[in-house]
Amino acid sequence: MRVATSVAELDTLRTALLADSSPRPHLAFVPTMGALHEGHLSLVRLARGVADLVVMSIFVNPLQFGPNEDYARYPRTLEVDLARAEKAGVDVVFTPSVAEIYPAGRQVSVNAGPIGDLLEGASRPGHFDGVLTVVLKLLNIVRPDIAVFGRKDAQQLACIRRMVLDLNLETAVVGAPIIREADGLAMSSRNRFLSPSERASALVLNGALRAAEGATTPTEALAAAERVLAEAVVSGEVVLDYVTVVNAATMAAVPDDHTGPALAMVAAKVGTTRLIDNVELTFPEPDLGDGEAAPSDVG
Ligand code: PAF
Repeated sequence: MRVATSVAELDTLRTALLADSSPRPHLAFVPTMGALHEGHLSLVRLARGVADLVVMSIFVNPLQFGPNEDYARYPRTLEVDLARAEKAGVDVVFTPSVAEIYPAGRQVSVNAGPIGDLLEGASRPGHFDGVLTVVLKLLNIVRPDIAVFGRKDAQQLACIRRMVLDLNLETAVVGAPIIREADGLAMSSRNRFLSPSERASALVLNGALRAAEGATTPTEALAAAERVLAEAVVSGEVVLDYVTVVNAATMAAVPDDHTGPALAMVAAKVGTTRLIDNVELTFPEPDLGDGEAAPSDVG
């Protein structure tokens, strides 16, 4: 595994690796902020399965943290990360400095648009502008065929897909399944901040989403999730930001007559740690009874 710390070094490595064989190998990219856990490694495995070469970036992006957020305390574990990345089969790790990515005098950035103002964006103004700015820069530096992002950050994934569409980017975006601890807690670099009792409280997030599974309407799903959350919210164990059922592409709340796929999403603070989670739901067509045709079948 090779490590590049500058754009120039990455470019030299990229050129050499791609020139090595014919036809040109497929390049997959896994952008991360480090503190690698099984979730990140699953992205690498997915990338390895669909491409010949895997580039991972490890960069804690200051632009996506608000002034009162955890940029300073975000875990930085580069040595362990490099060992994990190598073991998982990454070919090149790109670990630039902040000055390499954001040289003095930089002025232009990406605006995520309305989708970036909803949910996470409402609580973390400017967060998705920061995410999209760094992702666009990284995509332009690495120039991958495929980029893999975790579905845990569902709104991030939706914003990135929107950017790829709206800015005519050529990279194919792949969303990878959420990886969970045995008890259901979604893996996150921030889980390490939870005390044992906070970690126990955090399980209510996934519990609420699981309660929503099997509901036949969005209202029913939301009510089921809220019932599970109620006690932890009232006791102050978790400070709920939102629980909602949305369209995965637009992040807009789905109407109650919605049928087909949707995402149940939750965000809450547990102690000082903000956690998010989501599950995919499918709402069935209403059952119109034996022998009756659904309205769309009526000529
Ligand atoms: O999901 C993350 O780790 C980050 O938001 C990303 C995509 C690497 C951009 O900094």
